[in-house]
Amino acid sequence: LRPIHRRLSCPGTVTADARGEQQSSGSAETGSEDRTPKKRFSEVQKERREQAQRTILILCPNKISEKKFLKYLSQHGPINNHFFFESFGLYAVVEFCQKESVASLQNLTRTPSMGTEAAIPFRSRFFNLKLKNSSNETSEQSCIPCCNQSPPSSKKLFELLCDAESIDDQLNTLLKELQLTEENTKLRYLTCSLIEDIAAAYFPDCAVRPFGSSVNSFGKLGCDLDMFLDLDEIGKFNAHKTSGNFLMEFQVKNVPSERIATQKILSVIGECLDNFGPGCVGVQKILNARCPLVRFSHQASGFQCDLTTNNRIALKSSELLYIYGALDSRVRALVFSIRCWARAHSLTSSIPGAWITNFSLTMMVIFFLQRRSPPILPTLDYLKTLADAEDKCIIEGHNCTFICDLNRIKPSQNTETLELLLKEFFEYFGNFAFNKNSINIRQGREQNKPEPSPLHIQNPFETSLNISKNVSQSQLQKFVDLARESAWILHQEDKDHPSPASNQPWGLAALLLPSVAKRVSHDKKKRKKPASERIKNLLESIKSSPENSTNTNGKR
Ligand code: GTP
Ligand code: MG
Repeated sequence: LRPIHRRLSCPGTVTADARGEQQSSGSAETGSEDRTPKKRFSEVQKERREQAQRTILILCPNKISEKKFLKYLSQHGPINNHFFFESFGLYAVVEFCQKESVASLQNLTRTPSMGTEAAIPFRSRFFNLKLKNSSNETSEQSCIPCCNQSPPSSKKLFELLCDAESIDDQLNTLLKELQLTEENTKLRYLTCSLIEDIAAAYFPDCAVRPFGSSVNSFGKLGCDLDMFLDLDEIGKFNAHKTSGNFLMEFQVKNVPSERIATQKILSVIGECLDNFGPGCVGVQKILNARCPLVRFSHQASGFQCDLTTNNRIALKSSELLYIYGALDSRVRALVFSIRCWARAHSLTSSIPGAWITNFSLTMMVIFFLQRRSPPILPTLDYLKTLADAEDKCIIEGHNCTFICDLNRIKPSQNTETLELLLKEFFEYFGNFAFNKNSINIRQGREQNKPEPSPLHIQNPFETSLNISKNVSQSQLQKFVDLARESAWILHQEDKDHPSPASNQPWGLAALLLPSVAKRVSHDKKKRKKPASERIKNLLESIKSSPENSTNTNGKR
């Protein structure tokens, strides 16, 4: 399975396709070797948001002529781009060149009259396209190309990894296969924009912004959609512009705390989504959580959505991770692989509990890359020293300042391969003194643990908090044991140089197999079994692993 030249790949290289291009509408590039200017996080967000506001979502009949469909919609104005996808029906995402086209289409759209049921007449940007006469259309239908919105199956991914040329190639392949596509990113911003329209019924100038892995460059196809209802922009800054000795303030209702205000706002928005939101189903108000949220499924896009408000620090964390992901092409490849490895071994879970979260794993990789010599990533304190006046950001008394223009950060001189970094990651954390040290990306070095939680990862902005407080000693021990085993497997491979003809899964593929320890002892006992049978069993076991489920995020 493994060609002999697999160890000859260049350090730090990434194939064109494996670049993180989904994060900007231009040509974002995540490699330190690339010198094209990279967009700021705020620029990407602004562009994408504006693009989403000109975009509509349509449930189409299955039999449709793409040409006629586009011609029909073009009556309302020129179309910038469009794509189709399947999710319990055929959907189209259509981006007009101008926002006015959406209003023009809405003016020609009717509210359906139902039989025994009654429709809530909410005029959204989510439409249903019907054929007046289906027999005419079917004769001209063509096969509509659909964009895939789900990750490849574990089996497919496993095969691709076994066919790769080197471990570096494996990590880049995994990134390329799992990262959000351009279309999926568009669908995420569109979904936020559709929710914003609903929230705007109460708060006309609000913004609903995606945060977390949808925008921080570490999102995997199928990950949840974290949304932030931003009410801060409303009227806050205009007050300074008034002249004279008077200052106008709105009469408002007061409640005892910010938390109660957040809960009240989310409660009514939750009701709105539940009662009027087309395609919003399974709305749950989780208002007593540390960070109150409304969770729901957006049926058409297939996203599980978590809507929060008053959560500006999380948006700043997403920007910080976006910068780290864009600074060097190795960062995203390593983070994706570690997250995938953790999921394959049930170290992370979609159920809340004592597990490590993807967010914590990302922090661990960043910290590890800060500890290399020379460092691959700068510390947060260093990014703060590079900040200028316009970067200054204080949220609720926490200093969240760091440089926002990533083009002003010098690329690393470190040329280590992904293969080496993967091995060293496992060795580093397999031997880390978790009992006394805390992980701290602000300073880029271990600190004494300020409290006795088994795993301590300092929250980069609210520095007195531990982002992995939920992790139990047994989950941490499982992580350490698996890290050691993985380091051992990679080390053994180096020594044994298995022949390319052997049917053994190798490199990253070998590490993703469930229950490494069991497999090793099992393999020793059953050496006599033919390789083809062993690989068949391994494929069977990976097929039934939880990684096959679409919701793979480690949540709260
Ligand atoms: P996925 O598992 O792919 O969804 O990764 P994610 O980064 O989106 O994680 P998640 O959906 O759990 O959380 C969304 C965002 O909330 C994260 O990116 C962080 O910015 C923030 N966040 C999550 N967990 C914590 C935490 O424990 N502490 C703090 N301060 N922020 C958190
Ligand atoms: Mg998330």
